[in-house]
Amino acid sequence: GRMGRAFVYVILGGGVAAGYAALEFIKKGVSHGELCIVSDEPVAPYERPALSKGFLLPEAAARLPSFHTCVGANEERLTPKWYKEHGIELVLGTGVKSADVKRKTLLTTTGETISYKILIVATGARALKLEEFGVSGSDAQNVCYLRDIADANRLVDVMQSCPGGNAVVIGGGYIGMECAASLVINKINVTMVFPEEHCMARLFTSKIANYYEEYYKSRGVNFIKGTVLSSFDFDSNGKVTAVTLRDGSTLSVDMVVVGIGIRPNTGLFEGQLTLEKGGIKVNGMLQSSNSSVYAIGDVAAFPVKAFGETRRLEHVDSARKSARHVVSAIMEPDKTGEFDYLPFFYSRVFTLSWQFYGDNVGEVVYYGDMSGSAFGAYWVSKGYLVGAFLEGGTKEEYEAIAKATRLRPAIEDLTELERQGLRYAVTV
Ligand code: FDA
Ligand code: NAD
Repeated sequence: GRMGRAFVYVILGGGVAAGYAALEFIKKGVSHGELCIVSDEPVAPYERPALSKGFLLPEAAARLPSFHTCVGANEERLTPKWYKEHGIELVLGTGVKSADVKRKTLLTTTGETISYKILIVATGARALKLEEFGVSGSDAQNVCYLRDIADANRLVDVMQSCPGGNAVVIGGGYIGMECAASLVINKINVTMVFPEEHCMARLFTSKIANYYEEYYKSRGVNFIKGTVLSSFDFDSNGKVTAVTLRDGSTLSVDMVVVGIGIRPNTGLFEGQLTLEKGGIKVNGMLQSSNSSVYAIGDVAAFPVKAFGETRRLEHVDSARKSARHVVSAIMEPDKTGEFDYLPFFYSRVFTLSWQFYGDNVGEVVYYGDMSGSAFGAYWVSKGYLVGAFLEGGTKEEYEAIAKATRLRPAIEDLTELERQGLRYAVTV
């Protein structure tokens, strides 16, 4: 269209990465009117991890504005007022429907053309739908997904509409595990259904998974593993009343929560930018195949130096750190080296809490007491320590496993590593 605005920097997407990039832009001295953030969400960037944790608590639940970015890293809490005061144009509730990287323009759903000198793509990802696995019923009023605040509000409403009711959680990944715990805390009876042999199959070994599954069982969660959903039964209002599984069994339900993975939002750039691993391929400066376009967060596939390969990570720490790095790369290119990121994942459920650093490849060495509250594991690949996991650690212990993993020490003797256990990381 003819209507339009022009900015030096535009961030496409208003999630975690956008919020952290905004703060970094201000720290690096961006001028009023130079930066614009376009987001289809109706609210300013917030800490998405809160949605499956504090947001779902039965009492004193977290609500905006309490978890706007960047509180998750103990930095400033960026409210809409903050963006205004710093001269950042926050265009909310506005989707971008097409992008033209040659002309350096974005076209919004409101018909506006926004042009940029430099674009940072921070579009994150969308939840995969059951329909993509051949099951229909995603639109039913008591079937919940969880990606944004609208989903989270709906989940709370559905949960509150069936006190003491029965929920089926589809998927044994992060969303499944964290939502199952939150449902239990809300006194909903939970059955988890997933195709793998154990929960968190992408990261956990069966031994680690067993610890969490046993804990969940002690809190009343029922597991149905090695099968998937095949269909729903509906009542006359279109509410799901039962789920039928591929193994033939049927469960009656009051609500369903689905967490079966995500797809990065790359659609606007297909055919315009190089893609890899489902994301926008970027170099160590987080710059895409078009030199005016950068990508960060869940949508970016970037070189992980320690692994010597390109990865796409779907975690908040990488969103925050890639956001800070991209702003340095853009504003202070001469002072900025390549992004050197050690993958970090964590979760908190019930009173449990774990952290993982690095890569989960190679041989696994366990340490600590799995019948107690603190235990962990190391991954050793080709003679080097490449990954570390710890449940129930202290701040210092988590820092120690992070540091040890970053150092990538040679490991000659697995038995000795096992004997030393956590002490190895603390003293290396
Ligand atoms: P993010 O998804 O945050 O933001 C993308 C933004 O782009 C959204 O605002 C979206 O609406 C917008 N957008 C997309 N397409 C658009 C378009 N065409 N036009 C306009 N706007 C568009 N990680 C972790 O390490 N620990 C944790 O505990 C959790 N917990 C957790 C809970 C829940 C419920 C979820 C859904 C996710 C987590 N995560 C997590 C993952 C973490 O939240 C995730 O990695 C980051 O939010 C990624 O940040 P991004 O900014 O890349 O995407
Ligand atoms: P996920 O990739 O963690 O798990 C997907 C799960 O879907 C698998 O574990 C599997 O059990 C299940 N699945 C796969 N195919 C299936 C099928 N055909 N039928 C039924 N189930 C099937 O994804 P998620 O749990 O949906 O999480 C979404 C995103 O949110 C991820 O990017 C995740 O990293 C992020 N997240 C992270 C955290 C955290 O880091 N603590 C917390 C919540 C969400």
